Amino acid sequence: MTNRAFVILFGLLTVIFVGAIGAGVWVVTQSRQADGEGSSLVGGPFQLTDHTGQSVTEADYDGVHKIVYFGYTTCPDVCPTGLSVISEALEEIGPGAKSVKPLFITIDPERDTVTVMAGYHQHFHPSFSNLTGTPEQIAAVAKAYRVFYKKTVTEGSDYYLMDHSVITYLMAPGGGFLAHFGPETTPKQLADAIRALL
Ligand code: NI
Repeated sequence: MTNRAFVILFGLLTVIFVGAIGAGVWVVTQSRQADGEGSSLVGGPFQLTDHTGQSVTEADYDGVHKIVYFGYTTCPDVCPTGLSVISEALEEIGPGAKSVKPLFITIDPERDTVTVMAGYHQHFHPSFSNLTGTPEQIAAVAKAYRVFYKKTVTEGSDYYLMDHSVITYLMAPGGGFLAHFGPETTPKQLADAIRALL
């Protein structure tokens, strides 16, 4: 194969791949239902432990809208920013935010113990529940929410970072998926989207 043919083939495959991802996101978004129950393509049952040490499942957050964010406490900037955006959106909504439950779920259960999650809690909106679990429990909930995460170890060091999906989910009171927001979302955009549901 010539270099030129390879470049064309590679370009074509990239277009097909990106198109497929776009179509997937579109299908998920379009499957949102008018009754507010949302779709079941994202989300599902889980068993985790909150920052107070209580064992929790999805049933503990039944009946209210949920904002779900996956990340980890030693994340240098992306997670603190995402959690701040959620916190500011809830501040902006004010008293109405009582019917919205924010959940921060770690994808780094090795370091994010209950104690660490409790310490991290003071930095963001007080209504957050910070959830951790065994590596298996975290793998299960991440899979249910289609969240990718992977340890990236620096050679010759014990320190590591986590690569992870940066996505904020809005879930219906019944547990179904309603909407998702990327890292560029502003507090105002998130607050407006939540207000439209309340
Ligand atoms: Ni992060």
